[in-house]
Amino acid sequence: MANAKISALGCYVPPRVLTNRDLEKMVATTDEWILSRTGIRERHIADPEVATSDLAYEAAKIALDQRGIGASELDAILVCTVTPDMMFPSTACIVQHRLGATRAWGFDLIAACSSFVYGLTTAASFVKSGTHKKVLVIGADCMSRIIDYTDRATCILFGDGAGAMLVEAAEDGEPGFIDFNNEIDGSGAGDLNMPAGGSRMPASHETVDQRLHYVKQHGQQVFKYAVRKMYESSRDLLARNNFTGEDVAVFIPHQANIRIINAAADRLGIDPSKVIINIQDYGNTTSATLPLATRDAIAAGKLEKGGLVVFAAVGAGYTVGSNLWRWAF
Ligand code: UT7
Repeated sequence: MANAKISALGCYVPPRVLTNRDLEKMVATTDEWILSRTGIRERHIADPEVATSDLAYEAAKIALDQRGIGASELDAILVCTVTPDMMFPSTACIVQHRLGATRAWGFDLIAACSSFVYGLTTAASFVKSGTHKKVLVIGADCMSRIIDYTDRATCILFGDGAGAMLVEAAEDGEPGFIDFNNEIDGSGAGDLNMPAGGSRMPASHETVDQRLHYVKQHGQQVFKYAVRKMYESSRDLLARNNFTGEDVAVFIPHQANIRIINAAADRLGIDPSKVIINIQDYGNTTSATLPLATRDAIAAGKLEKGGLVVFAAVGAGYTVGSNLWRWAF
């Protein structure tokens, strides 16, 4: 049975930038507080007429062009997101139609900040099973649509962006997928969520008046959980494959807070030069952080064919995930 490999990568962020200085004019915060507590300097924000599928489409096109194939060669499209264009139909359908991916099926995968890790695992499993040859995994989020720009505890954190990876069947001996370690823990569902707009609390005048269609977070609880689980998930994944932090070419963590990333990498024994951090430029783009960070790792010359990559994320739910791959191009 063929293994799965990642064969192309495309990323897109909307051009408009929202800096910490801009936020100083909107809420009671400072550039110094944001930078020291989170590592973020600026984030990209989509214009009002732009939706998640638009970001996803741009990233997907770049990935397909890089691989030199048409969309009609795709077997499936997974759109990892917490900000679908609509609750239904799936954003995957909108992207499929726009790309002209006439043979593909697909769906949206909603697992907050771990969505892209779960998407990679799902795509690898489809390909390894032999039922799929080419699966496009897109992480795309328009977080600015569900952020309360009067809440300084959350509005400084998030940005918009998208990234796509093509997962396809590898030839014998080619580098590719190794293993995954994903888990969920719903005991933390109240720590980070968007309370209204679902079946529990449908939209009403009251939910709008109470600003319940925005992200709510107990930051410290999430912080502590993320530091512990980002480490434990990656540690166990490496150990059961007989690797240590020293074997890792690049550690590509979800970009939620530079302090979470550094704490996890330090405990894993991964040299700081191998830890990819670009949160300063994008903030937390939820499902898009991993492809964006991978692109920057390649641009910095840190990730080459055959290199051992750990993708790791912790997000609302809680969701936790880590994936181990050897980079294939
Ligand atoms: O990607 C999904 C997963 N999400 C995460 O991983 C996020 C995890 N959490 C975090 O990254 C951090 O908890 C935050 C960055 C959200 C907050 O940092 P913190 O060091 O945990 O700060 P805190 O919540 O303990 O707040 C410390 C103080 C508070 O003031 P008092 O009560 O000490 O007077 C806050 O009101 O900082 C205040 N504060 C702010 N001050 C200036 C909160 N937000 C701001 C702000 N500017 N933007």
